[in-house]
Amino acid sequence: FPLTHAMQQERLLKVLVIGDLGVGKTSIIKRYVHQVFSQHYRATIGVDFALKVLNWDYKTVVRLQLWDIAGQERYGNMTRVYYREAVGAIVVFDMTRLSTFQAVLKWKRDLDSKVTLSNGRPVPTVLLANKSDQRQHGLCPKLPKLDNFSQDHGFVGCFETSAKDNTNIDSAITCLIKAIMSAE
Ligand code: GTP
Ligand code: MG
Repeated sequence: FPLTHAMQQERLLKVLVIGDLGVGKTSIIKRYVHQVFSQHYRATIGVDFALKVLNWDYKTVVRLQLWDIAGQERYGNMTRVYYREAVGAIVVFDMTRLSTFQAVLKWKRDLDSKVTLSNGRPVPTVLLANKSDQRQHGLCPKLPKLDNFSQDHGFVGCFETSAKDNTNIDSAITCLIKAIMSAE
């Protein structure tokens, strides 16, 4: 039977999207929230926000608040402020640029040192190897096996994504939300 509004619960989830310059954080969010993609690169300054409302299950509405952190913030000191009260994170690298993969653990460590769940555990985090449509220019032979790498470093999942082709973005974010919902 249809539930009345009063029987539904609403969950506001603050999720951070982090990773080096130009890896596709803004593009992934735009694809996920607005179903659009642009080749044009305009670097994010500071932080941007996007909201997606999901009918998660029959009694839960999820308001997913995505914090799109500029890649250049890794060199800044605002991340402590931005990370506050986050309950999940998405770390992105560009599978065509090794330096962005090498930065993944720097982002993860920065995150874990600045925010935890109220029980002290790290916030659930997924790892995205973005630009999979460019696989022919990719790093695959140079990278460790990503599933092992992501498990070893405490990610709850790892996905090869393309914001351009809309590959795996929904699955990755659904995986993250599941982990967040079962984390407390
Ligand atoms: P900063 O805001 O500087 O931290 O960068 P960002 O991580 O937000 O990157 P952004 O989404 O702006 O994308 C950078 C460039 O990569 C843009 O030219 C995008 O069009 C391109 N791009 C993003 N995702 C993909 C993808 O999946 N495939 C391809 N081929 N290009 C992509
Ligand atoms: Mg951006």
